[in-house]
Amino acid sequence: MSKCVLIADDQAEVREWVADILRELGRATVETGRADQVLPLIQEMGDALSMVLLDLDFGQGQMGGMDALRQVREAGCQIPVVILTGKGSVRAAVEALKAGATDFIEKDAHVEDTLAAALSRVERFAQVVAENRRLREELRGVQEIVGESPAMREVLAQIERLGPVPRPVLVVGERGTGKELVARALHENSPRREGPFIAVNCAAIPDGLLECELFGQEENAFDGAPFKEGRFDRADGGTLFLDEVGNMGPEFQRKILRAIEYHSFERVQGTETIRVDVRVIAATNADLQAAIRQGAFRADLYDRLAFDTIRIPPIRERTEDIDSLARHFARRFHEEVAGVPVLEFTDAALTAMRAAPWPGNVRELKNFVERLATRLSEPRVEAAHVNSFLQPGGQAAAASSADPGVGPFASRVEAFEHSLLTTALDAAGGNRRKAAAALELSYDQLRRLLAKHHIGSP
Ligand SMILES: Nc1ncnc2c1ncn2[C@@H]1O[C@H](COP(=O)(O)OP(=O)(O)OP(=O)(O)O)[C@@H](O)[C@H]1O
Ligand SMILES: [Mg+2]
Repeated sequence: MSKCVLIADDQAEVREWVADILRELGRATVETGRADQVLPLIQEMGDALSMVLLDLDFGQGQMGGMDALRQVREAGCQIPVVILTGKGSVRAAVEALKAGATDFIEKDAHVEDTLAAALSRVERFAQVVAENRRLREELRGVQEIVGESPAMREVLAQIERLGPVPRPVLVVGERGTGKELVARALHENSPRREGPFIAVNCAAIPDGLLECELFGQEENAFDGAPFKEGRFDRADGGTLFLDEVGNMGPEFQRKILRAIEYHSFERVQGTETIRVDVRVIAATNADLQAAIRQGAFRADLYDRLAFDTIRIPPIRERTEDIDSLARHFARRFHEEVAGVPVLEFTDAALTAMRAAPWPGNVRELKNFVERLATRLSEPRVEAAHVNSFLQPGGQAAAASSADPGVGPFASRVEAFEHSLLTTALDAAGGNRRKAAAALELSYDQLRRLLAKHHIGSP
């Protein structure tokens, strides 16, 4: 997707001149001759816009660039705004920087070079900001929950309502619907957010070891076993996430029940009663009611865990979210992996995606989008691509398992980057600036990628 630059200048010939330069640099543009149109255009275009080039003087009786800039910042828009100044108005540009402009450039004979430099500064900055955000989120385990369907809005409302309540919550949903994401969001929405979030996958730990894992073990002089801290201990002051809670044996369910009810437990081999301040969130894709009827799950444990229940519907029941989820994963993947373009989904492609069954739900959709991004030679996704990737036995069908013929994910991404670079260079006759423009990369980004892949000499 070509991110667009908004050119706001009252003189049509300046707009044209700057637009030409930007086109040379491989950027799309939108233009306006009026300062009062800047904020509405930014709001209308949203993410499609990467920066604004703003003139200061829009002529007698017209709103000026400074006012437009203030409007933009007052509206909370963080988009980079680069001021275009005439000769000798550096003072005004400095004012603009104080009012929140990102940079300024003079409209003179060197504008081509200064504009290219400003673009790459701004884009590098935007990349750093995106990368920072990703790392910060990763560090905290926080991720945005995407979805505007009524069902997901209800889930978000429940997270807000239940987050601060110091009682257990049971999160239910099919595999890949976002149960862990919701559990983390509950933690983030609670006063415990600075405390630990400790996850335990009850299905992955054998029943016999679960007790030691959760409650810890006192040092045993007799058989020499060392002291081990349990996850209940580690979650003190925070949240304990019991994932796949339907998989615990009956004896263990009794112990968990007591720990949840009284916030206390004994370590294995221990006699002392340990008290902790832990909020429990549990998740399952099993039908616990059926398990209760079959005697496999304790009804009283269910009652404790399900103080309140958040039910996340499968994707097929909220197909209206597919659009925003697909765009979200495409954008994140682009931010995460250098050289991967942001996919654009045609209406027909989205229709095909809405008709697909998605048994692996959001996780399957995410894998599908990332696989498309690494395999397609251009960012536009057509219905035919979707259908071929969704065919039985096709890529989406293999989504949750490894794809043995193609090798691990990282090396496929590497190979794809390499082929993007060599193809673009060939097409540009070896001209790096042209290749960078064609790939919509800054010259520096291209250089770094070429160095990484040992293509050409520096
Ligand atoms: N609404 C959403 N918005 C953005 N990302 C989502 C959403 N729902 C799920 N995801 C992403 O999909 C993936 C699967 O989510 P998660 O691990 O929370 O699912 P789960 O229900 O716990 O799956 P499983 O049953 O397999 O354990 C994660 O990468 C998660 O970030
Ligand atoms: Mg999970």
